Amino acid sequence: MAETTVVDHPLVRHKLTLMREVDASTARFRQLLREISLLLAYEVTRDLPVELVEIETPLTRMMAPKLAGKKLVFASILRAGNGLVDGMLDLVPSARVAHVGLYRDHETLQPVRYFFKAPADLSERLVIVVDPMLATGNSAVDAVSELKDAGAKDLRFLCLLAAPEGLARFANAHPDVPVFTASIDERLNEHGYIVPGLGDAGDRLYGTK
Ligand code: URA
Repeated sequence: MAETTVVDHPLVRHKLTLMREVDASTARFRQLLREISLLLAYEVTRDLPVELVEIETPLTRMMAPKLAGKKLVFASILRAGNGLVDGMLDLVPSARVAHVGLYRDHETLQPVRYFFKAPADLSERLVIVVDPMLATGNSAVDAVSELKDAGAKDLRFLCLLAAPEGLARFANAHPDVPVFTASIDERLNEHGYIVPGLGDAGDRLYGTK
């Protein structure tokens, strides 16, 4: 079973608290999500391999580390995933981006597929799937299944908040995919929202409510 990593850096914890506050404006929420995404991306890429290459500084030649191995794909689960991917691309501008369009049917809480676009060479890349909220786990499980069907073999899942129920469901469906999150909250409520949570991440990010 792959591990779950809770990214508990003080800056992450602080920014997450500010995001949870009910009266944080859309602009503030968006800015904080962008800032926190850099810190989460830093952790999810911490073990990427490097190789030494010869370079020339203004003073001398030296062997210096550069990223080696698989190239990255950030796979955004629409629409809230885009709020994380935007910041992550600041850190890794050369990453490719996949989009997985899923929405939650509010009655069944099941994911409904409406869009899928990914780079052709997924099997040769490390795919980091992002969605701020791992709630029931249904969307995350479905998105990862779609990406695997399209060839992805090496995946990680990155979110801001996870519910214990969602983590369990995800681990059961995709035991090979490690999860990175800023917090494991208490539980899901009867509407499938994470408690204490931060509300609807997409609505708060885009000001649609
Ligand atoms: N999706 C959200 O945006 N928030 C939740 O709490 C659960 C799912």
